[in-house]
Amino acid sequence: KLTNKGSFTFSAPSNIALVKYWGKKDNQIPANPSLSFTLNHCKTITTLQFEPKTEKSISFDLLFEGQPKESFRPKIQKYFERIQDLCPYTLDYYFTIDTKNTFPHSSGIASSASGMAALSANIIALEKLVNPHQTEDYYLQKASLLARLGSGSACRSIKGNIVVWGETGSIENSSDLFGAEFPYEVHAVFQNYQDSILLVDKGEKQVSSTVGHELMHNHPFATQRFEQAHTNISQLKDILKSGNLEQFIALVESEALTLHAMMMTSMPYFILMKPNTLEIINQIWKFRETANVPVCFTLDAGANVHVLYPEKYKTEVQSFIENQLSEHCQNGQFIHDEMGFGAKLI
Ligand code: PMV
Repeated sequence: KLTNKGSFTFSAPSNIALVKYWGKKDNQIPANPSLSFTLNHCKTITTLQFEPKTEKSISFDLLFEGQPKESFRPKIQKYFERIQDLCPYTLDYYFTIDTKNTFPHSSGIASSASGMAALSANIIALEKLVNPHQTEDYYLQKASLLARLGSGSACRSIKGNIVVWGETGSIENSSDLFGAEFPYEVHAVFQNYQDSILLVDKGEKQVSSTVGHELMHNHPFATQRFEQAHTNISQLKDILKSGNLEQFIALVESEALTLHAMMMTSMPYFILMKPNTLEIINQIWKFRETANVPVCFTLDAGANVHVLYPEKYKTEVQSFIENQLSEHCQNGQFIHDEMGFGAKLI
């Protein structure tokens, strides 16, 4: 046990799934494998202060941009409870956790992935001080595993620009327990891939992801959907190697619409797209055809649209977004992001 107090600051990015995680078993084990691109600019930056104490307990204060933020407490409390057996040293410290996001507050961009990844990177930095005798791979896997216990998709925000989570049968070393870097060489067209996030609806999420995953229990199409995700991961693996953008676009858009189809066909059912979501999708399709640019969309569990395109087409696509698509965004807001690498010590 350390006798001094200290602190770390880590940033961790959000990520965008191409093959979607939707449905889980106990212990944050995914019902199907998923694959995501890590982002670069949409990040959470978290400072963890730790101070040794004598009695063993979970004890922390929470700040958001330097101000007390009690609304995060239940989620963080649960996180510390879930990790206490894996990280018994966390019971020896009193923590102050101060968090900020680089993207606008309540933009409808989920901060749970970046937030849980940034916190977990900090916890593992503390573990390295308490127990410095493991390999770098051990610490990275464990950081991802802790992030998973905080929020499933967060395990894909620790390391790598393309990350697989969930046993696939087709990608070596993939695991249900943590996210792993895509282990094969990727075609140059995917290097520095772009993701512009169009903010269509910044309102509170209609369906929390916890409720969303539960909707897959007893879902009439669950078995087929989980099988399809396996097939899609295996196909995407080949597409990422070959650089076939036509196949990439078809697979990615179909995954996004399938995620929403699952929500529309569960009980209770939800429509999370807004009229502007559909308007934007239609315009992307039109632009793809008329300008002959390989741009496509994906969606999270909400109304916002992620526009994906190769770096080579950055100028054309970004001016299309700024001049045409932004009209259909709430307050004209969008964020140009791109592939990033993962959690970083600051
Ligand atoms: O990590 P969670 O429990 O917030 O679930 C995220 C689910 C989706 O964003 C809809 C899909 C995904 O794979 O990220």
